[in-house]
Amino acid sequence: MSTPAINPSVLNSDFMRIGEELDRIAGADRAHIDVMDGHFVPNLTFGPSMVEQMARRSPIPLDAHLMIENADREALAYAEAGAESVTFHLEAANAPVRLARELRRAGVKVGVGLRPATPVEPLLDILGEFDMVLVMTVEPGFGGQSFLESMLPKIRRTRQAISAANLELSIQVDGGIKRETIALAAEAGADVFVAGSAIYSADDAAAEITALRELAAA
Ligand code: DX5
Ligand code: ZN
Repeated sequence: MSTPAINPSVLNSDFMRIGEELDRIAGADRAHIDVMDGHFVPNLTFGPSMVEQMARRSPIPLDAHLMIENADREALAYAEAGAESVTFHLEAANAPVRLARELRRAGVKVGVGLRPATPVEPLLDILGEFDMVLVMTVEPGFGGQSFLESMLPKIRRTRQAISAANLELSIQVDGGIKRETIALAAEAGADVFVAGSAIYSADDAAAEITALRELAAA
């Protein structure tokens, strides 16, 4: 497992001032960009051209989290837009292995996401195709929800499976991550932490990022 990474989600930032909002998190590891299509989740955010503009403007790399249907057809556009990593949801891909390989060929790190009701077991035989597993710790769609502690066993099972296969994948957790919950997820085996409202509602986003990183490493 690598040192903990903090990826603030810009979902609850001020979209009218997105450039400055990206600057506020310059001390983070990556900016987490929640792409929502109004179908896979009941919310709508950015498309590839907005992601491309953010990639050009952001002081740190982009971690694109695609909450979209038809991932097989749509995901490559986000790699081409300049994201460093692209995560699609297992539930939204017809051919996840083929898609993961296409994305890797396009030069990005590839994540695969699991909604709370989706088990990790269908992934176990294909883990080597990915760089990261995203275990959602809320039902995807909105920021500001409460961390689901019931996801901790899934994080643990995922970490055990990665170790047993002698692989080096990251485990990202997303949803309800804040000072009170981050250590639980870290202890279960997560090493990449998305935090939206905790960071963007803080007066000092940089200090919040540092505090979260320290709690995750403890
Ligand atoms: C939820 C998104 C998250 C969200 C996290 O569907 O994937 O990235 O922005 O927000 P918080 O940290 O407020 O739960
Ligand atoms: Zn997300």
